[in-house]
Amino acid sequence: MIYHFNEAMRPSGLFVFLAIFVSAFAEPSPECIVTSFSQVMDITMNCIDIIVRNLTVPAGNTVHFHLKDGASVTFEGTTTFEYFQWPEWGNYLMQFHGNNVNVEGAPDGVTITDWNIDCSYGDGRGGHNTDGFDVISARNVVIKDSTVVNQDDCVAVNQGFNMHFSGLYCNGSHGISLSVGFSKTSHFDNTVRNVTYSNCTVVNSINAIHIKTHNDGGPGVISDVTYENIRFSDIINFGISIQEDYADGGSTGIVKGNVPIVNLIFRDIKGTLSETSTNSTAVYIFCADNGCLDWTWSDISIPAGVIRSWCNFQPKGYTC
Ligand SMILES: *[C@@H]1O[C@H](CO)[C@@H](O)[C@H](O)[C@H]1NC(C)=O
Ligand SMILES: *[C@@H]1O[C@H](CO)[C@@H](O)[C@H](O)[C@H]1NC(C)=O
Ligand SMILES: *[C@@H]1O[C@H](CO)[C@@H](O)[C@H](O)[C@H]1NC(C)=O
Ligand SMILES: *[C@@H]1O[C@H](CO)[C@@H](O)[C@H](O)[C@H]1NC(C)=O
Ligand SMILES: *[C@@H]1O[C@H](CO)[C@@H](O)[C@H](O)[C@H]1NC(C)=O
Repeated sequence: MIYHFNEAMRPSGLFVFLAIFVSAFAEPSPECIVTSFSQVMDITMNCIDIIVRNLTVPAGNTVHFHLKDGASVTFEGTTTFEYFQWPEWGNYLMQFHGNNVNVEGAPDGVTITDWNIDCSYGDGRGGHNTDGFDVISARNVVIKDSTVVNQDDCVAVNQGFNMHFSGLYCNGSHGISLSVGFSKTSHFDNTVRNVTYSNCTVVNSINAIHIKTHNDGGPGVISDVTYENIRFSDIINFGISIQEDYADGGSTGIVKGNVPIVNLIFRDIKGTLSETSTNSTAVYIFCADNGCLDWTWSDISIPAGVIRSWCNFQPKGYTC
């Protein structure tokens, strides 16, 4: 799996990242405890149970964890990223590699709790591509009780299986998203299955829920995705936007069913749009022929925006 935590910055000179990465329980041997940036490479190459204790990452560096199969990493104390001068951001804060998705029955997944990703310094300063959690090629992932303040997707799932996101608080984002179809050829790389978002709050954001499939990608599928108990407010464009016409970071107006969306469950989705937006829309669904199958929605409440909701596909239980 690979997690990407994007670059961020702060006027104060320090980017403070509170992290508890829970998956190890036993106290590892002292040589497996990372306390300085220079130790990361050696220790991740040699240890299975790794503790990262009060690590400070020098400005401009990405922490690469090339983990051994089955390795676990526990963050203790505060992990601090030194300030990286705008506009040079664009790199990831941390990358985790390990347990490649083709490992069948990969040793457990990963649980991330209590992360606080604060890219608020990018507000009004052109902060972009500051995705909070990008989940690519992962399975058995739990991310919960975390906060993201940024200017791009709060969570974006591109590929993977069996993920549960809960208790996320997203401020300033582009929403909790699925963005699928980056590969031109690989059905596997364009597959997302069994993903649940529950108990999440999205405020002050471009979208609350955004699902997009790339019409210039190869074949794939999104299936068995549930959004439940999602609350939002101050949404500028779309409460819910689902589109099968996405390419190169935008809408094309041309839908394609290369990545059908199957068994999409929405339950208890409530929120309000921005009162100052001239452009707000409660619900927008733009599906290709046979691109959307078997959607069950209930308990959706989003007061109308400036622009009328529009859907070319009707989920069971919801009238657009
Ligand atoms: C981490 O640093 C804090 C002070 O910033 C200190 O209180 C704490 O004991 C340190 N934790 C460890 C595990 O060294
Ligand atoms: C959202 O984040 C901004 C900082 O970018 C902050 O000023 C604002 O109070 C936050 N809003 C909410 C509702 O948390
Ligand atoms: C779906 O994913 C969850 C973890 O989020 C897991 O507990 C569950 O077993 C998975 N279901 C299937 C059918 O694989
Ligand atoms: C979501 O919230 C409900 C009600 O507060 C709670 O019963 C449920 O356990 C929560 N689910 C998760 C996955 O946090
Ligand atoms: C209006 O919404 C569209 C998406 O439908 C977006 O691309 C455009 O930038 C928005 N315009 C403004 C002025 O917000």
